[in-house]
Amino acid sequence: MEYNIALLKGDGIGPEIVDSAVAVLEKVAEKFGHTFRFTEYLIGGAAIDATGVPLPQETVDGCLAADSVLLGAVGGPKWDTLPAQLRPEKGLLGIRAAMGLYTNLRPAKLYPALAGKCPLRADLVANGFDMLIVRELTGGIYFGDRGRREGQYGPEAYDTEAYSVMEIERICRVAMSAAQKRTGKVISVDKANVLETSRLWREIVHRVAEEYEGVTVEDMLVDNTAQQLVRNPSQFDVLVTTNMFGDILSDEASQITGSIGMLPSASLGDSTRGLFEPIHGSAPKYTGTGKANPIATVLSGAMMLRYSFDLKAEADAIEAAVDRALNDGCRTNDIAGPGDPVLTCGGMTEAILARI
Ligand code: IPM
Ligand code: MG
Repeated sequence: MEYNIALLKGDGIGPEIVDSAVAVLEKVAEKFGHTFRFTEYLIGGAAIDATGVPLPQETVDGCLAADSVLLGAVGGPKWDTLPAQLRPEKGLLGIRAAMGLYTNLRPAKLYPALAGKCPLRADLVANGFDMLIVRELTGGIYFGDRGRREGQYGPEAYDTEAYSVMEIERICRVAMSAAQKRTGKVISVDKANVLETSRLWREIVHRVAEEYEGVTVEDMLVDNTAQQLVRNPSQFDVLVTTNMFGDILSDEASQITGSIGMLPSASLGDSTRGLFEPIHGSAPKYTGTGKANPIATVLSGAMMLRYSFDLKAEADAIEAAVDRALNDGCRTNDIAGPGDPVLTCGGMTEAILARI
């Protein structure tokens, strides 16, 4: 089969890790007889430097015309002082919105080979963990009304969280279907003891769950979830939550896998076209040092094959190659233990390629 893939390399380590994922996708294409055509578009700081804006229209058009999109990361100190509308992050939020990607799937699992890098006590992760965070991606406080105004104590700033019934229903459906293919257990994360949006969220999540056979939902307050993730991560299977809670909890989940450099993500809407990106940022201080871990982006490529193109064997081949590389002791800087030989980003890419 032939597929057109838009590449948004972005900033910092973005270009290096996207190159790694492309090399892996090319190898899979060769092995399974597919053709992947890659076209690069600008986003984030790179786009600001070249065009003055973080998300040029050409990028939006290119992504909407592609079969799927692979993204590296955006942002860096160079653009930190720009006004809000011109920040690199605005490019990322803009492309998620323009493509209608309201679902963000963030799997987090403990690789047995990396158990020693997990900062939790061994007895807490004796059973390992394998969870899927389903994060709402185009609503909530990220996209609500915001601004500056004169308040009770003088000048103030505000951001607002709003969720419609429709937005909650559709993300809940994604979580319930995902749970049916897993253990059927959903934990819905909210702050219903304080927030009205959370009370609506709770109402809807239970109503939607009734439509899904074999699925049970438990509510968990977000502050408690933050504790439970480091106390007993094995209890989680599917978590479903809002944009901001999902952003925060997925970073926490990544730390207990050993490194944020391990977590891929899939952003999806109503079509098969998605945007696939590591959950980590552009790590400006590692740019060009070879210290970047390409695994999160390589695994994002695997998620693209699985979710956008329905190429299961091909996605499995990438995931198995990563497993084997880790089991064989291949380590980048972030996942190396004391005394382990350390591979560069390119070295890890070669190690994965050799195992496909
Ligand atoms: C993420 C990132 C982004 C987010 C930033 C860069 C806007 O932290 O993908 O988790 O908050 O969604
Ligand atoms: Mg984040």
